[in-house]
Amino acid sequence: MNFSVTLVGAGNMGGAMLKGWISNGMKADNITVLDPAPSDTMRDYLSSNNIRHVENADELQPPDVMLLAVKPQMMESVLPGLVGLVGPQTVAVSVAAGTTLATLGTFLGDVAMVRVMPNTPSLVLKGMSVGCPNSKVTEMQRQNVHALMHAIGAVEWVEDEKLIDAVTAVSGSGPAYVFYLAECMAEAGKAAGLPDTLAMTLAAQTVSGAGELLGQSQEPPAQLRRNVTSPNGTTAAALDVLMTENGMGDLVERAVMAAKKRSEELS
Ligand SMILES: NC(=O)c1ccc[n+]([C@@H]2O[C@H](COP(=O)([O-])OP(=O)(O)OC[C@H]3O[C@@H](n4cnc5c(N)ncnc54)[C@H](OP(=O)(O)O)[C@@H]3O)[C@@H](O)[C@H]2O)c1
Repeated sequence: MNFSVTLVGAGNMGGAMLKGWISNGMKADNITVLDPAPSDTMRDYLSSNNIRHVENADELQPPDVMLLAVKPQMMESVLPGLVGLVGPQTVAVSVAAGTTLATLGTFLGDVAMVRVMPNTPSLVLKGMSVGCPNSKVTEMQRQNVHALMHAIGAVEWVEDEKLIDAVTAVSGSGPAYVFYLAECMAEAGKAAGLPDTLAMTLAAQTVSGAGELLGQSQEPPAQLRRNVTSPNGTTAAALDVLMTENGMGDLVERAVMAAKKRSEELS
């Protein structure tokens, strides 16, 4: 990753990306962090890794990549101060949920921009990020953004920004559905007679372990499911309940559609 990056906002997501870049071998010299008030932990991380930190955009030259990781509600107050950070070679990248390319363009002008939808497993470098570039983005800029996001997990691209609402509904909000599955399994375990703590441990470790297995396996989830389902066995008995008409498949589809609709309303 031999290009310059200015990270605007070193909070949860910005901090995760920063750590991913450093652990993927990006030179600290190539990184500048702009954040008026990072946490003490972040300040320690920046100084111990010799990463340049500034509190004010006025001190900076345009980088190759300007990556915005501030809260969506901060965007309108932050963007006007960043116009001088976008030079002819700069691609502006935003990971803010719900902030469209058009909104970014209102403040930054007709410049190269990428909207990215990451998700929370990025915090443990197992994220899913989906990028959507505008027509100004060059192949080299796209490769640079890909490399930056790849440092915190998998990366996919869509050309049609409207798909970001569906992306948000599946991978952006998706971790919460999986956490809820773990909650439901724990509650069900208690109902089946397990002590509370044991039920939660079994549910959480099962969700986490199954996710890891899925991630490492070459097989699709349907095959992994079939691999553990003996005819007339215990798993089959449970799946007969989950896979019925109006069962889990329909429920998840309704949930994803609701999230997509809400994402459209918020954009
Ligand atoms: N967290 C996730 O997993 C996740 C998933 C998908 C998308 N995102 C997106 O990622 C973005 C960041 O979320 P987050 O959870 O990382 O938020 P966060 O922890 O609040 O981080 C935002 C950081 O930006 C700083 N900041 C505030 N004003 C600034 C300014 N004028 N210039 C530079 N930095 C400024 C904040 O400082 P203060 O704390 O002092 O205000 C904070 O350190 C959001 O837009 C969110 O939609 C996050």
